[in-house]
Amino acid sequence: MLEFRSVYKSFGSQSVLRGLTLHVQDREILFVIGASGVGKSVAIKHVIGLLRVDRGEIWLDGERIDQLSESELYRVRRRCAMVFQSSTLFDSMSVVDNVALPLRKHQKLSDAAARKAALEFLDEVHMGEFAEHLPATLSDGMRKRVAIARALTLRPDYLLFDEPTTGLDPVSARRVDALIRRLSEKHGVTSVVVSHDLTSIFSIADRIALLYQGRVHLLGTPEEFRNTSDPVVRQFVSGNSHGPMETPGF
Ligand SMILES: Nc1ncnc2c1ncn2[C@@H]1O[C@H](COP(=O)(O)OP(=O)(O)O)[C@@H](O)[C@H]1O
Ligand SMILES: [Mg+2]
Repeated sequence: MLEFRSVYKSFGSQSVLRGLTLHVQDREILFVIGASGVGKSVAIKHVIGLLRVDRGEIWLDGERIDQLSESELYRVRRRCAMVFQSSTLFDSMSVVDNVALPLRKHQKLSDAAARKAALEFLDEVHMGEFAEHLPATLSDGMRKRVAIARALTLRPDYLLFDEPTTGLDPVSARRVDALIRRLSEKHGVTSVVVSHDLTSIFSIADRIALLYQGRVHLLGTPEEFRNTSDPVVRQFVSGNSHGPMETPGF
């Protein structure tokens, strides 16, 4: 289980997380939603130690992880893989080499063994036939699937996705959704998905956490989100520009 316990995080005078408490259950797909700038990316970056809490605790399977050293975080990063919003592939390397890289580096596999394993991960995301292509020649949706294949190489128990379908056409977006669902069902991966894609949310989320003013405002099933009369949730779900949720700067 992954748990945020009353996490606070500020940048200068801007307080972003203000007592964030959230329990992610094993094998679930939990969507984290909320207005842009509310702190969704900030929250998940804390899990892999890209940001450090000011106050509060983060627990992973019974171990407190918010104060681990850089070398201890290495273990956490093998178990929790993050798929960043921009797919962060190396443009000068073929797709298969991008995916093979962590296998060579962290699993210490030989070049041939890493390539072979990388091809299997690419098949898993239906990208095997593009193995020799350069990332720049692929669509955004394809690059996203390659990034997911790379995240899978260390066989993580947890996957953290930052807006996996943002900027994708609807068909590619639904493929990514299906992939996230499959990873949860077939491999028992626990997924935390930052997103504002309502189609994804209502088709693959087990639960949804709405961040608002630095905390979880409401945590519930898609059904509960559909049926609630809570004004903040209603505004998010209807995409209304007027309501309690105001985007800073607009
Ligand atoms: N490393 C950082 N340094 C300073 N401010 C940051 C940093 N990371 C995020 N922020 C600020 O924190 C707020 C929340 O950011 P973020 O989590 O990226 O929002 P979102 O919910 O859209 O993902 C934003 O106002 C952002 O500018
Ligand atoms: Mg973000």
